[in-house]
Amino acid sequence: MPFTSRIGILGAGRAGTALARAAATVGIPMNIASSRSPSQMKYHLAQYAPQATAVPAEEIGADVQLVVLMVPQDDLDEVDPESVNGLTLIDATNRWEEMPLPDWLENGQAAGLSSSEVIAQHFGGSRVVKALNHISHWDLDSDSSSRQGQQRALAVASDHRPDATLTARLVRTLGFAPVILRGLAEGRLMEPEGEIFNQVLSAAQLRALLHDR
Ligand SMILES: NC(=O)c1ccc[n+]([C@@H]2O[C@H](COP(=O)([O-])OP(=O)(O)OC[C@H]3O[C@@H](n4cnc5c(N)ncnc54)[C@H](OP(=O)(O)O)[C@@H]3O)[C@@H](O)[C@H]2O)c1
Repeated sequence: MPFTSRIGILGAGRAGTALARAAATVGIPMNIASSRSPSQMKYHLAQYAPQATAVPAEEIGADVQLVVLMVPQDDLDEVDPESVNGLTLIDATNRWEEMPLPDWLENGQAAGLSSSEVIAQHFGGSRVVKALNHISHWDLDSDSSSRQGQQRALAVASDHRPDATLTARLVRTLGFAPVILRGLAEGRLMEPEGEIFNQVLSAAQLRALLHDR
């Protein structure tokens, strides 16, 4: 069954607007928010995500069941967990090189958790799914000739099976082949140092890679 519900996208930069364009192409409506107000985003969105409805960041969860987090990790202290309380939260964030992180995120990873496990603790009222982070905005963008086929596999990791299944439906509707991992801890494979980050794999290749580990 295709995913048709409205989604929220938190972050209107390269990744957020690429997702908005990809979602619009397949008929998924979306709200989008950044650190700026809707009126301040007006010209930016007219150019990069004309079909997105701009909302204030604190209202990103107002009329959706699923929000995609596409904010740089160093800005996560500025995101109020209340704004996504009770929702499926797709964590599409990555750490880039030595980017400074909020203390809670740095400390959680130093204690051995994957970044999404720490984000799941921080956004404790949401059900976190790691997805859409290990593909570049160029390849996510439906207009991109570098997409390399409709059946590229994208991994989905969560400790909440119904939310993983919902996210897999979104991924499939966007034109990719979802592969559900065992849990958020396994989402480490999707992080920048992980084996599948930015790898163009079919679902069969991704499953084989998971099986052989
Ligand atoms: N670029 C990619 O190819 C790609 C692919 C997959 C995942 N990601 C991940 O997605 C995240 C964003 O990457 P990006 O490349 O899109 O970054 P970007 O181009 O710098 O855009 C960041 C966006 O986040 C917004 N933002 C910052 N603080 C915010 C807050 N407190 N509330 C709401 N919005 C806020 C910014 O708003 P303003 O414009 O108002 O400052 C901007 O729209 C990163 O974690 C990255 O690792 C990126």
